[in-house]
Amino acid sequence: MHISNGYAPLTPKNEFYDELLEETQAIVEGQTNWVTNLANASAVIYHGLRSLRHFQEKPINWAGFYIIDKNDSNKLILGPFQGKVACTEIAVGKGVCGTAAQLMQTQVIKDVHAFPGHIACDSASNSEIVVPMILDGRVIGVLDIDCEKLEGFNEDDRIGLEAIVKVLIKSSEWTQ
Ligand code: SME
Repeated sequence: MHISNGYAPLTPKNEFYDELLEETQAIVEGQTNWVTNLANASAVIYHGLRSLRHFQEKPINWAGFYIIDKNDSNKLILGPFQGKVACTEIAVGKGVCGTAAQLMQTQVIKDVHAFPGHIACDSASNSEIVVPMILDGRVIGVLDIDCEKLEGFNEDDRIGLEAIVKVLIKSSEWTQ
């Protein structure tokens, strides 16, 4: 149930992620093109998070995908996103994105400035979450979200976003 204070819904994060998951399932319904699905997913995630009370106080400034390069599995290339212009290539193992891809583990970074090798695409970013996209035991890309404030993300975000990534992987045909 949502309690309105006239400012923004006080939805708990876990309930919010249930709704975001449903919205993700709706946008991929009947569509298997990965570019199409990730383009709409980045919009759903970016605008959805920005509508949540927590992220009005700790605003998201970037949400999108980096995809493993078809011709070089050691390289992530920029995919569909919402936010400012971003770096186009990240080596696997470098930065927060490359680390998530290499370790095949979600990275919840409370302070990007304390992360060795963090790649600063937007100087406004202070915290970050990166979820690897794993298909049949191999990484095909990552979901990357940046926040303007420190400690923007926690376990609720990790669990909620990992579930969303699973839906996206399952619903799309990966021809990249
Ligand atoms: N900060 C990321 C780079 C991508 S941008 O945040 C969009 C990283 O360290 O991998």
